Amino acid sequence: MAMKAPRGTADVLPKDANLWRFVESTAAETARAFGYEEIRTPVFEHTELFQRGVGDTTDVVQKEMYTFNDKGDRSITLRPEGTASAARAYIEHAMHALPQPVKLYYCGACYRYEKPQAGRLREFHQFGIEAYGSEDPALDAEIIAVASTIFKNLGCTGLTLNINSIGCPECRKKYNEALISYLSSHSETLCETCNTRLTKNPMRVLDCKSPICKEIAAGAPHILDYICDDCRDHFEAVKSYLTVMGIPFSIDPTIVRGLDYYTRTVFEFVSTQIGAQGTVCGGGRYDGLLEELGGNPTPGMGFAMGIERIILVLRSMGLVKEEKNSPRLFVASIGQTAAALALCQKLRENGIYAMCDVAGRSLKAQMKNADREGAAYSLVLGEDEVKSGEAQLKNMETGEKETVSLSDIPALIARL
Ligand code: HAM
Repeated sequence: MAMKAPRGTADVLPKDANLWRFVESTAAETARAFGYEEIRTPVFEHTELFQRGVGDTTDVVQKEMYTFNDKGDRSITLRPEGTASAARAYIEHAMHALPQPVKLYYCGACYRYEKPQAGRLREFHQFGIEAYGSEDPALDAEIIAVASTIFKNLGCTGLTLNINSIGCPECRKKYNEALISYLSSHSETLCETCNTRLTKNPMRVLDCKSPICKEIAAGAPHILDYICDDCRDHFEAVKSYLTVMGIPFSIDPTIVRGLDYYTRTVFEFVSTQIGAQGTVCGGGRYDGLLEELGGNPTPGMGFAMGIERIILVLRSMGLVKEEKNSPRLFVASIGQTAAALALCQKLRENGIYAMCDVAGRSLKAQMKNADREGAAYSLVLGEDEVKSGEAQLKNMETGEKETVSLSDIPALIARL
């Protein structure tokens, strides 16, 4: 039986890869315009990094990680997200010694063992940014602006930005009491995992994917009603900065995010056009994460966007046209393969996509191929052309022909 790719993974075929490159490069260029620089971290890390960083009681750590022992009997996990890895790298490479805030972006595959559906895969790709070393609400607003500008530059409209504050560990003490008392009255209906979460980390119940737990979560008290004065001032400042930057937002007091490290500002960009998995970008502040991972106390904030989901949004907008990579010049030959290869090679060294036959086709079949490939120009090399060093360059659209020298490459390129 023919092999198939594992469930929850997807090939990106050449017809789609242009769109992927467009999304990835637009996101990177936009982040660079805000002063972010690229970091690349390994696809796998020590399991403990995610247990400590993302949190033991999260769905991601409890149910979704690809974890295995390597041949040296170390517990290894394919990264389910990029924040813990980037924070690990910040600490490991002593980036606290650099001017702060340190601003990093990344793009790559992540792995979560989830139930695949439209917009939800087991191998998916995130573009994300992280900034370290500033507690100022101006950073929160600037980070949200990076995401908003990326969507603008991609031509992605119709997304809603929802923001919330989930306070600091201090506010959370008071909130947890209220939450535990509410959830305890429903403990008989909550799922088994949530019953253990109830005492360990009650906020995680609010993020459970089980439909019954979701229903119960809908009636839970909101943390926004419990945040302390400092957290409230911080949130007010973020909102006012977003307003002056002209970034529209809604307050959604139900956002808690699925990962444990968040403090204060959290946000999501949501689309209603791509089905149940409509969150295209999620992020927030995490002022305790670096210390949790053994670093100096260092505030941080960032977001990640799902590339597959962005592509679904762009497709749902009907703006995507498939582009083919067509040659500028098709060099056909009558028994002159060596000369055709040599000419193409010179053009390619100059960045011109030139094509010649490498499949032993007849001249007629070569010309048909030039048409099919959408070549802008063609020329034929026979014995005469090779001897004289000149050929007839044909414009494939108009049929016009002109004589060109085969040795003067700059002049030939100027014609193409
Ligand atoms: P997250 O909300 O778990 O946050 O994921 C961010 C984005 O990745 C989601 O909004 C979604 O677009 C995409 N995504 C997540 N899971 C899947 C999946 N199974 N299939 C397809 N796309 C998916 C984080 O990962 C945080 N590290 C974000 C962050 C960065 N917070 C601070 N800094």
